[in-house]
Amino acid sequence: MTELSSVFPPFALTLTTPRLVLRPLQDDDIPAAVEAATSGVHDPGRNPFGTPWAEAPADQLGPNMARWYWQCRAGTTPESWALILGIWHGGTFVGCQDVGAKDFAVIRTVTTGSWLRKSAHGRGFGKEMRAAVALYAFDWLGAEAAESEAAVWNAPSLGVSRSLGYELNGITRMSWDGKAETVQRVRLTPETFKRPDWQLKVAGHEPTAKFLGIEG
Ligand SMILES: CC(C)(COP(=O)(O)OP(=O)(O)OC[C@H]1O[C@@H](n2cnc3c(N)ncnc32)[C@H](O)[C@@H]1OP(=O)(O)O)[C@@H](O)C(=O)NCCC(=O)NCCS
Repeated sequence: MTELSSVFPPFALTLTTPRLVLRPLQDDDIPAAVEAATSGVHDPGRNPFGTPWAEAPADQLGPNMARWYWQCRAGTTPESWALILGIWHGGTFVGCQDVGAKDFAVIRTVTTGSWLRKSAHGRGFGKEMRAAVALYAFDWLGAEAAESEAAVWNAPSLGVSRSLGYELNGITRMSWDGKAETVQRVRLTPETFKRPDWQLKVAGHEPTAKFLGIEG
């Protein structure tokens, strides 16, 4: 039978770090993602996202997550793409790391976002998975910058950024679900990147890059 990845090439992509496997979420993975999110992503009342998706009532969380994953896939073109990578640790689904871009051919800049189930916080996984997508973006896709942002109080997210060599890139105020939030923007370049002391293993790069319109 023909593999789904021959139809939608990003499904062939796999990034492997010393402890984690990152690959685009497929439909069969969505229940594990919903289970991980349902187990808790952040402290109650402490939403760290522009859209407070993890606070949705249990009966809405799963459908909302599935819609979001399908929307990201359906909208992926060379002009605007998003790879939602599931994160596995020893076969257990622990969270998501996304990497995406608009007009990548022109600005060579990716943006990232991530979450881990609470039981996986504070073990260096956040740093390892962000390092994985930074390595993939710089060394494989030819990115020249990786940008991210976090609420100014989000010490773990800003800790990942600081630890990998991101530079502060300005403060902005945003409306997060109708509430004012002060947001720190951060930016990483190949020059400032504090590279990990391990090598990233990559499978399925060429069909993915071709699909995203990235040559060479
Ligand atoms: C943000 C998140 C992905 C970070 O992952 P993590 O695995 O918990 O973080 P790590 O263990 O990799 O820590 C990375 C760095 O931040 C530092 N750090 C972690 N928590 C910290 C805290 N509370 N205060 C200060 N530094 C902290 C660590 O010491 C580490 O730095 P080091 O390598 O120099 O020691 C995870 O905490 C999470 O999913 N949080 C909820 C969702 C979220 O906030 N997503 C991001 C939205 S912008």
